[in-house]
Amino acid sequence: MEKANNTENKMVEIGEKKKGSSLTAENVAFVRALESLKPEGERICYDPYAVRFLSPQYAMFMEMAAHNPSKTPFPGVHNSLAARVRYFDDFLKGFVDDGLEQLVILGAGYDTRAYRIEGLRDKVRVFEVDQPGTQNVKMEKIKDIFGSLPDHVTYVSVDFETENYGQRLIEHGYEKFQKTVFIMEGLIYYLEPKAVDDMLSFIVKNSGTGSAIIFDYVYKSSIDRTDGICGIKCKACDQNEIKNGIKDMAQHGETQKFGIMDGMLESFLIQRGFSHVCSVNSKDYKKAYFHGVNESRPVCCRSYFAHAVVK
Ligand SMILES: C[S@@+](CC[C@H](N)C(=O)[O-])C[C@H]1O[C@@H](n2cnc3c(N)ncnc32)[C@H](O)[C@@H]1O
Repeated sequence: MEKANNTENKMVEIGEKKKGSSLTAENVAFVRALESLKPEGERICYDPYAVRFLSPQYAMFMEMAAHNPSKTPFPGVHNSLAARVRYFDDFLKGFVDDGLEQLVILGAGYDTRAYRIEGLRDKVRVFEVDQPGTQNVKMEKIKDIFGSLPDHVTYVSVDFETENYGQRLIEHGYEKFQKTVFIMEGLIYYLEPKAVDDMLSFIVKNSGTGSAIIFDYVYKSSIDRTDGICGIKCKACDQNEIKNGIKDMAQHGETQKFGIMDGMLESFLIQRGFSHVCSVNSKDYKKAYFHGVNESRPVCCRSYFAHAVVK
C-alpha cells in the first residue's frame, strides 16, 4: 500500500493482470468505475458495471479513491478517458434512436455498452470483438453479473494483427447490408498500420447505408517520439503523467504503435472511403462536459476522438 502513493509505481503495482487479459482494458474500466462513484450531476460518464471487472488490486485502489475522489493517479489522462466514454455513449445513443441495426465493438475489452445503453437489447445485434484472453475474462464476469450471456450479444475472439477479423465477423452472423456503428475505443494506437488499414477496409466494403465509425487516435509525432509526447506544448497536460502511463502499459505488452499524421485525419479517412469526418480535441470536450465543479479538472491534449460515415 505504501507504494501506491508513488504515482510512477502505482499502475504497475495495482495492475496485476489476469493471465492473458488486457491491462489497458482493466485500466479503462477502472476510470469508468471511479467516475461512477460521483453524484449524478457531477460525473462525466456512468457505468454501474465497470467496478465488477476490477481485479483485487484495482478494487483496493477504488476503496482509497472513494474516500478521496479528487486524488486519481493520472488525472489528466483519466479525465480525458471519462470524456471519451461519455462522447462515444452520446454518439451511439443518437444512432440507436435513428434505426441502428448492428453495433460492432472492436477491441471491446470490458466495454459495457451492450448491457447499459437503452434500446440496444431490443433492437440491435451487438458483436464484441477482442483477443480470447480478455474476452474469456469478460464473458465470465458478464455471467456473474447477469446470470447468463445475453442473447443480443455475440462474442468474436480475434487477433486483429494475425487473423481476418471480417471473415470471423461474417462467420458469426454479421450482416453486411445492415446499418452498423463500429466502435474502436482505445484501440487503433495498439495496432500495426496494416491492421488499421485492413480494419477500415473491411468496414467500407461491408456495411450498410448510413453506417459509421467512431474511434480515438493520437498523432504520429507522439508515436515516433520515444517519450510518447506530442509536439503540442499544452499547459494542461502533465507530460510525466503521459510518459509514465505509456511506459507502464508497454511494460505489460501493450505498446502504442500507430498514429495519424498530425492534422491529417480528414484526408486519412477520405482516402480510405469515409465521408462526414469529424475530429474532436481536448478543448472541444472540455467545453462540452466540464462545467461547474468539473471546470478545473485537467484534460490531456494528446488524444483525439473521431467519427465518420461510410460513403
Ligand atoms: C485500451 S483497451 C480498450 C478496451 C475498450 N474498448 C474500452 O475502451 O474500455 C484496448 C483493447 O484492445 C484489445 N486489443 C489490442 N490489440 C488487439 C489485437 N491485436 N487484437 C484484438 N484485440 C486487441 C485489447 O485486448 C483491449 O481489450
